Amino acid sequence: MLPSGGPDAPIGVFDSGVGGLTVVREVRALLPQEDIYYFADTAHCPYGDRPLAEVMELAAQVTEHLLEQGAKLIVVACNTASGAALQALRQRYPAVPFVGMVPAIKPACRLSPSGRVGVLATALTVQADLFSDVVHRFARDCRLTIQTCPGLAETIERGELSGERVLALLREYLAPLKAARVDVCVLGCTHYPLIRPLIEQELGPAVQVVESGAAVARQVERVLHERGLVAPHGRPGTFILAGSGDLNVVRRLAAELALLDPSFSRR
Ligand code: DGL
Repeated sequence: MLPSGGPDAPIGVFDSGVGGLTVVREVRALLPQEDIYYFADTAHCPYGDRPLAEVMELAAQVTEHLLEQGAKLIVVACNTASGAALQALRQRYPAVPFVGMVPAIKPACRLSPSGRVGVLATALTVQADLFSDVVHRFARDCRLTIQTCPGLAETIERGELSGERVLALLREYLAPLKAARVDVCVLGCTHYPLIRPLIEQELGPAVQVVESGAAVARQVERVLHERGLVAPHGRPGTFILAGSGDLNVVRRLAAELALLDPSFSRR
């Protein structure tokens, strides 16, 4: 299927659930004139513990849906789906511009004075070739402590951004990073920035926390420019929320991130 949209068409964004909203927040800040159609695949969340082939299939199904909505560009706002499916999506839809993401290991290694960098991500993200490539290319001089976080994305997905349960999981997963005395921590899953204050509090002020949302937004801007697809400046962009399952938490967090302000349409 071809992207049907010109500059006036929406940007399609997807994630397994609420996480991609942390990317939308950055795209929105950089490109306020763009319409965004966000798809939360909540019926299949989390992606991170599923087999690779299954996530590839889910990502293809969501992509079809976004193209049916006329998306001019698709943002895979999920490290897990990017690792599992980005290459296959680009092959399957060569005419469609995709922007994917990978944990921010490159900037983290540049930023770290000690070279000791922690990475929090899902199991599937760290298994992906995309992840190994980035580690191989950009972390040669760094000592990475890579920590998968089973259950953390699900907890966030339930809207638990604070409280005992999320704190207990976080303390378990941050312990190896603390033991390794990392001075930079990469949030390698788009769900995790939603609990960034808690992560910063647990790691303390000596550890810098980095995420990829702003870099993804800049890449979206670049690709739109290259393809002549930037929406006319000055108009207010709209935000449409859709998904495959329950959207209550997604809607609540979208409102908290001010993505559902009155100038946005919703459904
Ligand atoms: N938000 C997704 C990511 O960036 C993963 C959450 C999940 O496991 O579904 O990796």
